[in-house]
Amino acid sequence: MADLIPHADEPPTPESAGAAIPPPAPTPGGFPVVGMIGSGQLARMSVGPAAELGITLSVLSTDAFDSAALVAAHAPVGHHADLERVVEFAQHCDVITFDHEHVPDDVLDAVAELGVPMHPSPAALRYAQDKLAMRERLGELGIPCPQWARAESVSDVVEFGDRIGWPIVAKTPRGGYDGKGVRQIRSAEDARSQISEWFDGGAVLLEERVEFVRELAILVARSPSGQAAAWPVVETVQTDSICTEVLAPAPDLVPGLAAAITEAGLRVAGELEVTGVLAVELFEVVAADGTPAFVVNELAMRPHNSGHWTMDGAVTGQFEQHLRAVLDLPLGSPRPRDRWTVMANILGGEVEELYSSYRHVMARDPEIKVHLYGKSVRPGRKLGHVNVGGTHLASLRERARHAADYIQGVIDE
Ligand SMILES: Nc1ncnc2c1ncn2[C@@H]1O[C@H](COP(=O)(O)OP(=O)(O)OP(=O)(O)O)[C@@H](O)[C@H]1O
Ligand SMILES: [Mg+2]
Repeated sequence: MADLIPHADEPPTPESAGAAIPPPAPTPGGFPVVGMIGSGQLARMSVGPAAELGITLSVLSTDAFDSAALVAAHAPVGHHADLERVVEFAQHCDVITFDHEHVPDDVLDAVAELGVPMHPSPAALRYAQDKLAMRERLGELGIPCPQWARAESVSDVVEFGDRIGWPIVAKTPRGGYDGKGVRQIRSAEDARSQISEWFDGGAVLLEERVEFVRELAILVARSPSGQAAAWPVVETVQTDSICTEVLAPAPDLVPGLAAAITEAGLRVAGELEVTGVLAVELFEVVAADGTPAFVVNELAMRPHNSGHWTMDGAVTGQFEQHLRAVLDLPLGSPRPRDRWTVMANILGGEVEELYSSYRHVMARDPEIKVHLYGKSVRPGRKLGHVNVGGTHLASLRERARHAADYIQGVIDE
């Protein structure tokens, strides 16, 4: 794990609202308008499934050139922290959902007052927004977690490190993504030099540094009426705290552990009354008695990178499933289409021109499915991903990696 990942996307800052938001074009047939707050790649990848279902997806975009704003038919510009703008946006929507978890509480409260249903609800979303709240709640539910503590000061950090052993991991409870806001702390001196300024923003979450075997994720969907569906447990591979590869299902996962993780995912969704897609990031560990076990890393209440494989690898992809769930429609089958599906992320590198890679990648491997997000290239930025499914895992991994590397310009043949 890197100490700090400097090249993650910067969250945008509020800007003044533009002209009044016109309502989306009416759709014949009585179909609803789903409003999504946030216009990154998750909103963008929801556009296709919404169009297929005849549902209008309206995307509140921070910028007219954001990933989803480029492709959504209705993408008014407004910042997710601009209360008046979000309320204006929500007035045109039958239900509100989210592309990210950064909408502030006062804005969520204002939308709730308006009476427009939000999925997930602010009460559930809290546990994806605030890692301290998440740790407390999962503890109450008896869901296995790393040893953790709330720190109010550097001396709390030193006390925790001395008690459980260095190094430890410190996290900002809110606003982290792609490893930003996660630091490994090796000593008291490290704590003083690296995170003392974090306390200006409030308490900090401390965790033991988990000696994990690998990282896993369980993705489930739950509807307001309580129907739930789970995709198979996957293995996620992180490079410098950014997800680079997903293997679905997780290879060689012992059946008992797969069942326990799936049960935990469904239980968290039910107990927290999550609506929409829920991703639970986990670490596989070895228990004291030598058997495989898990602890939960964190929760995300939206489609998630660990579920991008479902777009091509499952009967129902996560973006369609999220729309079904937030509209309280019956959920689709999460059944995998292939024995294995491998997803490889395409991260920004040196090369800015991406399209010319298509000819080689598509000719070399007609089974590869390429998904690009319409984002400009910055080093380490998630620009897209590829999926490939089949029966031979090692060769699928090689093929997915090759395509992703070729598109990002790491290799040229
Ligand atoms: N307690 C821990 N012990 C060991 N490694 C950890 C621990 N917590 C986090 N990590 C590593 O750091 C990565 C990022 O941590 P985490 O998922 O909490 O951060 P994030 O910035 O919220 O990430 P995301 O991009 O998933 O939103 C994890 O995927 C894992 O590789
Ligand atoms: Mg994470």
